[in-house]
Amino acid sequence: MQLSRGTLGAGFAAVTIGGALLALAGVVFNSFDNPPLAPANPAPASPTPATVVPATPAPPTFALAIPAKPVPLKPALPLGISPQLYAQAVPPGHEPTAQLAALGEKLFKDKRLSVDDSVACETCHDPTKGFTDHRGGATSAGVQDQHGQRNAPTVLNAMFQASQFWDGRAPALEDQAKLPILNPVEMGQKSPGDVVAKVAKIQEYSDAFKSLLGRDFTYEDIAAAIAAFERTQYSANSPFDSFLAGDPQAVSEAAQRGWALFQGKGRCSSCHAFNAVSPLFSDQKFHNIGIAAHKQDFAGLARKALAILRTGDTKQIDELALQTSYSELGRFLVTKNPADIGAFKSETLRNIGITGPYMHDGSLATLWDVMDHYNKGGVPNPFLDGGMQRLALTEAEIDDLVAFLFTLTDDRFADFNKAELGRQTSLKTNRPQRETDVAEGKKGDLGDIGTNPDLRNPASIGAY
Ligand code: HEC
Ligand code: HEC
Repeated sequence: MQLSRGTLGAGFAAVTIGGALLALAGVVFNSFDNPPLAPANPAPASPTPATVVPATPAPPTFALAIPAKPVPLKPALPLGISPQLYAQAVPPGHEPTAQLAALGEKLFKDKRLSVDDSVACETCHDPTKGFTDHRGGATSAGVQDQHGQRNAPTVLNAMFQASQFWDGRAPALEDQAKLPILNPVEMGQKSPGDVVAKVAKIQEYSDAFKSLLGRDFTYEDIAAAIAAFERTQYSANSPFDSFLAGDPQAVSEAAQRGWALFQGKGRCSSCHAFNAVSPLFSDQKFHNIGIAAHKQDFAGLARKALAILRTGDTKQIDELALQTSYSELGRFLVTKNPADIGAFKSETLRNIGITGPYMHDGSLATLWDVMDHYNKGGVPNPFLDGGMQRLALTEAEIDDLVAFLFTLTDDRFADFNKAELGRQTSLKTNRPQRETDVAEGKKGDLGDIGTNPDLRNPASIGAY
C-alpha cells in the first residue's frame, strides 16, 4: 500500500485476522496522533453560577444542536460488528465527539460545498438509500450533470476499510473527503482555499467551527468533521447476523444453501473474506476479475498511463480515475505495478442488496448478472486474477447465492431491500452476462486449469 502523506508511514501496523491481512490500524491510529481538531480552549470544569450573564456571544443557531462540552460518542455496536473491529478503526478514547460528527453530517448533506450549490456528498451517497446513488445510471453525475467513470460505493462501514476508493488511492477517510469537493466532475471547487472561503461566509459553519476549535478552520478541519460523521456510520444487524447468532429462522433455507455455496463451490470467500472479527466480506485487497475487460487494451493503456503519471500524486490519480478511460487500469494507477492492471478492491458485501448497480463501473445491473459474471470465470484478459475460475453453478445454485446476498442488508433498510429484491427479480429474464456453456467448461479457454474434474467441489482437488 502506498501512502500519500509521509507522516502516515510511521506506526503502520498490519493485523492478521483469521488469515485475512487487514492493514488498517496504523493509518487510522496515526491520523489520531495529531488530532487536527483539538480545542484551543477546553470548556471549564466547574459549572457557571446561574446568576452570571455570560460574556460570550449567544450560541450559534445550528440546526443540529451542539452541546456545550465535547462528548466522545460511545458506540452502540450493532449485532455483527465486533468490538475488536471498532477498536481498530477507532482506538479507545478517540471516538468522534457528538459535536464534530453533527457538524460533519451537516457538511455531508450541504450542496453549498460544491462550486454551484448543486451537489452534496449525499447526492451520490444517499443516506436513506444505503449511502449509494439511486438516481439511475451506472455512474454518478456531479456538477453540471457530468458523469464520472465510476459507480459510487456505500459509505456504510467505509470507516473499517484499509483504504478508500475502488483503487485504494486514499489511505484514510480524511484523505478521501478532500478529493470529491475538488474534482471537476463531482463538486467542482477550484482549490481548498476557495472551499474554506465559501464555507467561512456561512455564519452557522464559521460559528460552529469557532466554538469547536477556538480558531479559524482549515480545509483539513472540514475533511476531519466529515470523517467524524462517517465514523458513526457502521452498519450490520442483518438477517444473516441473526442467523449466525443462533436464530435458524432468520434466513430462508435457500439463503442457507447460498451461504454454503459462497464458502465452497462459489469460491466467493477467497476474496470476500468473512469472520466474526472482520465481518465485512472483503479481504481489502485488489483483484482483476475482468469487469469490462473486453473493452480494454490493458497493456496499451498502461503504457500510455505511465507516460502521463507525472508524480503520481493523489489528485492526478483522482482525475485520471474519474474523468478518463485510464480509469479501467484500477489499482495500477496507484502502484504502477503491472500485476495491478485492471484490479479493483473486493468491495464489502454488506448491504449489497440495496447498493446496485454493481462493480466499479456500475456495469452489472443485478446480483443475477454478478453471478453470471462469476459463473463463467469472469472475462478473460492477461491480468485476470488466478482466483477466477469457471464455477458451473446451476440456475438453482445461482438463485440460492442471490438469496444469501439479499440477507446481508441492515434491518434499517429492510423495506428498501425487499423492494430491490422485487425489482431485480423482475429483471431476471434479461441476463446479458449469462454464458452457461463457458460456465460448464464446454466452451472458451480462460487459460485456467481447464475443465475442473469436480466443479461441484473444487476443494476436493486442492484448487481452492
Ligand atoms: C458526483 C458523485 C459523488 C460525490 C458528490 C461524492 N462522491 Fe464519494 N464516491 C463517488 C464515487 C463514484 C466513488 C468511487 C470513486 C473511485 O473509487 O474511484 C466514491 C467513493 C467514496 C468513498 C470510498 C468508499 C469505498 O468503499 O472505497 C467515500 C468514503 C466517499 N466517496 C465519501 C464521499 C464524501 C465524504 C463526499 C463529499 C465530500 C463524497 N463522497 C462526494 C461519488 C461521489
Ligand atoms: C478473485 C477475487 C474475487 C472472487 C473469487 C469473488 N469476488 Fe466479488 N469482487 C471482487 C472484486 C475485486 C470486486 C470489484 C471488482 C470491480 O469492480 O472491478 C468484486 C465485486 C463484487 C460485487 C459487487 C460489489 C459492489 O459493491 O458493486 C459483488 C456483489 C460480488 N463481488 C460478489 C461475489 C460473489 C457472490 C462471489 C462468488 C461467486 C465473488 N464475488 C467472488 C473480488 C472477488
